[in-house]
Amino acid sequence: MVLSEEPSTRKRLRCPYHYWTYEVDGALCGTPYWDRTKGSAPDDATRDALALLPVRHTEWAGMVLVCLGEPERSADETLAPLRERWAPVDLERLHLAAEDRYEVDANWKLVVENFLDFYHLPFVHPQVGPAAAAPDIEDVVLADDILGGCYPRGAAGKAAKTETPLPIFGDVPAALRDRQDIFCLFPNALVFLEADWFQVIGFEPVAANRTVEHMAVFVDSSASGPEFADARKALTAVLFEVNDQDVPILERMQRGRSSPAADRNHLLPHWDQVTARFQVLVAAALEEG
Ligand SMILES: [Fe+2]
Repeated sequence: MVLSEEPSTRKRLRCPYHYWTYEVDGALCGTPYWDRTKGSAPDDATRDALALLPVRHTEWAGMVLVCLGEPERSADETLAPLRERWAPVDLERLHLAAEDRYEVDANWKLVVENFLDFYHLPFVHPQVGPAAAAPDIEDVVLADDILGGCYPRGAAGKAAKTETPLPIFGDVPAALRDRQDIFCLFPNALVFLEADWFQVIGFEPVAANRTVEHMAVFVDSSASGPEFADARKALTAVLFEVNDQDVPILERMQRGRSSPAADRNHLLPHWDQVTARFQVLVAAALEEG
């Protein structure tokens, strides 16, 4: 039974089926009419055995990263290359500016491939900058499972997203202030970082042809007040617009991918090498079962 489907600040979880209740640490604390008498409860050992199962998780950068299996590495080891790269940015300062949910009629792998596809940016998202600026992006492979790219100087010619500049995340060196990082944390977290905003898309592959995306945009905590309300709104409008533009593209990719003709592989040497690495990761994960 799925116990909870929405984020919640309740002190206890109650199962809608038989009203068993659990503490937020998973301990079972309520079992109405356990032995058919009012106020009855299981003995301690039985109650402990019926507690919710713990899962490994780490909170970082506005995300809760969960591992349901036996990890080969700790979350700290996995995240180390990214923590190191982003060390000048104080991610403790994240303030949630806005979030949204998208339902996309496409396979999750296309969602990732589109995210790693820097070639489409000026064509599908012309507002982010001219096509001539697109080749500025560099492929970056931080680790086997952290793949993406970087605009070292921001997307050249890119319009400012907000009239009032947003404060940056702490003491970011001048040389990194225009940098935009775009990474997939394999398998299902997609992150963008600039000096003054951070965006996460965590997605759920709910069916072979359906993915639910949860998108969140963060700004610096000093930009949480009313004086930055317009800037936050302008920034999030731009970022949501970009994602809105990708949804119909993804759905057309999904329909195209259903054709046997799509089995021909046309990954390009100059644009698609990060995607090629992603496909190798997927293939390896499938082989491992
Ligand atoms: Fe896109």
